[in-house]
Formats: sequence, structure tokens, C-alpha cells
Amino acid sequence: MTQLSNKRVTASILLGILRQMTTTTRVGILTAGGDSPGLNAAIRGVGKAVLGHYGMEFIGFRDGFRGLAENRTMELDKTTLAGILTVGGTILGTSRDKPHRMEVNGQARDMTQAIVDTCRKHGLDALVCLGGGGTQRNALRLVKAGLPVVTLPKTIDNDVAMTDATFGFDTAMGIATEAIDRLHSTAHSHHRIVVVEVMGHRAGWLALGAGIAGGADVILIPEIPYEVESIAKAIRERSRHGTNFSIVAVAEGAMSGVDWHARQAAEQKRAAAQTETDKQAAKLELGALDARHAGNTIKLARQLEELTGLESRVTILGYVQRGGTPSPADRLLATRLGTACADLIHKGVFGVMVAARGEGTEPVPIAEVAGKVKTVPLDHSWIQSAKRVGTCLGDLSPS
Ligand code: F6P
Repeated sequence: MTQLSNKRVTASILLGILRQMTTTTRVGILTAGGDSPGLNAAIRGVGKAVLGHYGMEFIGFRDGFRGLAENRTMELDKTTLAGILTVGGTILGTSRDKPHRMEVNGQARDMTQAIVDTCRKHGLDALVCLGGGGTQRNALRLVKAGLPVVTLPKTIDNDVAMTDATFGFDTAMGIATEAIDRLHSTAHSHHRIVVVEVMGHRAGWLALGAGIAGGADVILIPEIPYEVESIAKAIRERSRHGTNFSIVAVAEGAMSGVDWHARQAAEQKRAAAQTETDKQAAKLELGALDARHAGNTIKLARQLEELTGLESRVTILGYVQRGGTPSPADRLLATRLGTACADLIHKGVFGVMVAARGEGTEPVPIAEVAGKVKTVPLDHSWIQSAKRVGTCLGDLSPS
């Protein structure tokens, strides 16, 4: 009797091993949200490790979650992955479509089940989603729908929670710094104020990093509400000491104290809203405030011109910051995160984002990342350093 049951156990173990040997792990990948330098390096990192090192199968989905919902695929093999390390953008294409609210034939539809069906159809054992904060939230929805998801953190804003860094940030910071360098000479020649707008709606990492590296005289970030008079005072002070030009690096989400408080109040209302009507009203209020904020950089330049008597000009860096070849640091980070992602899939670890931690990486639950924004802490060393070198941050307490 015991001999018989032992034989059965041995047979079932052998069957399991055989199944493992014959079923190849199939890995799907997509890129979602705004594009960012380093996405292709990450696709390559995951792909080369998955295909070459682990002998798994690899398939791409086009244009973010939409491609997954519509079963639009891209074959990813060694040939497709060759030569993309240095290429900007994403070979898969991207979109900001959300699984649970996707426009289909002019109507917003929940496409979660369609996505699950596509994954089943392809027999996916893992789904890798590359993206920023929005993508982490959407990935969590798919985790809850039962899919084996692993995410990687990308965005030029560097605002994804629980990771030391996101790929794309270093490249964008380099581009913005070079722009500030170039604006310096023209501002100097014409004795002007040049207000340079850097991306970053909710976090000021990019404006702060590039501003410090480029030696901007004023840096304005969303985390610190500014007073125009305080900025004008700092510029007038420079003029009094014989320097009659200034560079103002402003994050697109930086706000005056008045606007900042109005937005905070609207955010609180939205968080506290109990009924659908209250939620919609709070959303409308936030939308109106954001619409009012558009064009803020131009308004700021005009105000500074009036208050200082110095001619002002505006440069909006915009999408230049998201384009082109990734920096070596971003290629390295994307490759490190991508290959670590393949290792996790091999180990069967899902529902996690691969975070950068020091020189290494660490899996963190997507549930702990989704819905959070990594803003610049007010006691961050970059802020201290900026103040120590005399940079005006637009607040009332400049040191
Ligand atoms: O998330 C990165 C980011 O570049 C933000 O800084 C910017 O506000 C936003 O994307 C704009 O993206 P899009 O116009 O592509 O939606």
C-alpha cells in the first residue's frame, strides 16, 4: 500500500517536472502613459533576459493597455530587440488609455475583461507593464483581476513612489540643463529675465535638478507655493549688485500661494466627497483651476517684467524633454530594472514593481505604489543646497 502511494507521488513529481520542461513561460509586455527615454532600453533588458537567458517566449502589445484590450501584438525576438538600446520613444507605441474606462466607438467602456481574455488567449504567464504613476494604478486593477503583473517605473518626472529613481528622468534633466545653459548666454547678452518652463505637474524633481545643475537664479516647484513679489525682489537684488539678467526655472505645476491654496482646498473637497454629485462638482472645480493655470508661465514672465523693469522672455521646453536618445545613466537603470524583472518572473514573483534601491533593485507591491506621488520633501538636500548657493525658491522664507 505504502509502496503504491510512494510510486504515485514519484509519478506526479515527474509529471510536474515534465510539464515544467515542456511548457515555456510566455511573457507579454506593454508601455503605457507618456513616453520617456529609456523605454526601449527596458524592453530590450526584459526581452534579452527572458528570451536569451531564461529561454521564455516574449510578445509585445501595442499602444499601452489599448493594444492589450484590442489584441494588437508585436513580435519581439532577438532581431526586433537589436539596436534599440539607444533609440528614444518606445517601439511598442504608448497611450494613456485606462483598462476600466477606455473610449470605444465614442463610449467609455470597461475593457478589463477583454484584457484578461487577451492574456488568456496568448497563454501569458506574466505581463510586464512599463509606466509612471497612472500605469501603476492601472496595473493594480489588472492584478485585482487576477493577472500576473510586474511593473517597471518610468517617467521623466521621477515621481513614482517607493523607487529611488525612474528611467527617463536623468535624460530629461540633461536636456533641461543644457537648455538652461544656452539660455544663460542670451539672457546675459540682452539683460533679460528668461523664464524657462520645465515639465512636472505635481513634482518638482526635474525643475529643481536641472535648475541647480544649470545654475538658475530662481527655481519654482509645485511643492513650494511662490510669491511673485519675493521672486521680483531677488531679481532686483541681483540688478543692484550689477547682474541685470536672471534665469527662472519653473515647473509647469508651480503655483502662486493664492492658486496653491485654492487647489489644496479643491483637492480636499474631492477627497471628502461622499456622493457622486459632490465628486463631480469637486472634479469640475479642479478642472477649472487647472485650466486657469494653463499659460501661467507667460503670466509670471509678464508680472516679473512689470515688477523689475527688466525685459522678460519665455521658453517652454515641453516635449523636447521626453524625446531622443536616453542618457547612459538611463540606459543602465532601464537595463538593471528590466533584467531584474525577468529574474522575478523566473522566480514566480508577481503583483510587484521592480524598484531601484541603491545599486540594486527590490520588488515592492504595486498596491503600495499605486495612487501615491513622490514629491520633493521640503527638507530634501537638493532644496538645502539650492538655498545655500543663494537660489530663490519663490517662497517668503528664502533661507
Ligand atoms: O508624465 C510625464 C509628463 O511629461 C508630465 O511632466 C507632463 O505634464 C505630462 O507628461 C504631459 O503628457 P501628455 O501631454 O503626453 O499627456
